[in-house]
Amino acid sequence: MFQNLKLGVKLNLILLSVFLVIILLNGLLLSNVLQKNAEQEVKDKALVLIEVMTSVREYTSKQVNEGTIKKLSPALEIDGQFAKTSVPGYSAREVFSNLQKRDQYSDFFYKEATLNPTYIRDKADKFEANIVENFRENSDLKEQVGFRSISAGDLFYIARPLQIKSESCLVCHSTPDRAPASQIKTYGDQNGFGWQLNEIVGTQIISVPASKVFEEARRLQLLVVGILAAGFIVAAVILNLFLKVSIISPITKMSKWSRDVSTGDLDADFEHKPNDEIGVLAASVNRLKVSLEMAMNMLKQNPDHS
Ligand code: HEC
Repeated sequence: MFQNLKLGVKLNLILLSVFLVIILLNGLLLSNVLQKNAEQEVKDKALVLIEVMTSVREYTSKQVNEGTIKKLSPALEIDGQFAKTSVPGYSAREVFSNLQKRDQYSDFFYKEATLNPTYIRDKADKFEANIVENFRENSDLKEQVGFRSISAGDLFYIARPLQIKSESCLVCHSTPDRAPASQIKTYGDQNGFGWQLNEIVGTQIISVPASKVFEEARRLQLLVVGILAAGFIVAAVILNLFLKVSIISPITKMSKWSRDVSTGDLDADFEHKPNDEIGVLAASVNRLKVSLEMAMNMLKQNPDHS
């Protein structure tokens, strides 16, 4: 079947198959690499941010709460108000909301998702509560990562357990009567109490937008496929032109010429200038024509020789 096709069709079929194989390999390999890169990029962002937020918590706990405010006002009251700035969870949230005001971070999220939170906005939703349960059931688990889809697109999240490691946390989170009166005035006495030492009360979860990064990877892949396709089209056009000029058209001419010769038109030589294989063939057929001519002449002069 393939053998019966014209040279040009054969060449284009071969080119097309090579192109398809390369596109397929490119698809498998490149999309894998780009996908991994994109994943690494969002992971790196999330990782840096979660470390920064943990540092903010530590700073507030050690330097703001114990180091400054508690010394100035043991009841953690400033101007008759609860000193919120002494609370690690508060400062972490405020720092992050400042970050979110910058355009490029507006769709990043940070939450200290807690099963029984002091501040109700920190209440874990179903998805986050599941993550907390996993940490509670498996104490070796130090991190959970994954993707979560929301209406605005895909988010990549890193979650770490929030564990009560120090007795000092329990001043405000065990029973309302131990907590500063001003805290109760601000946050009430219903939520964020009854926590135990070493209990995992929630998860610190950071989410970074992933859709854009993955779109970028897909765009890059399309661009590579586009460049490859354009390269193949240019190569195909050049090869087709070359095939036509150097092989097909001389061969077509030669077959017309030999048809003429076979019907007795022995006047013209076959003309082909380039010194390539077709040129060699042309020289041979011209010699063949001369021999044929000589044989015919001999035949004409000596008719009874046959
Ligand atoms: C001075 C009292 C106080 C101390 C000490 C304190 N917290 Fe809190 N904590 C609060 C208050 C008040 C909030 C709510 C702050 C807000 O987000 O407005 C809070 C919020 C949190 C949250 C976020 C979830 C929630 O309840 O809203 C976590 C988690 C948390 N604290 C853990 C800890 C840990 C761990 C420690 C010890 C390192 C600690 N806290 C020490 C008072 C305290």
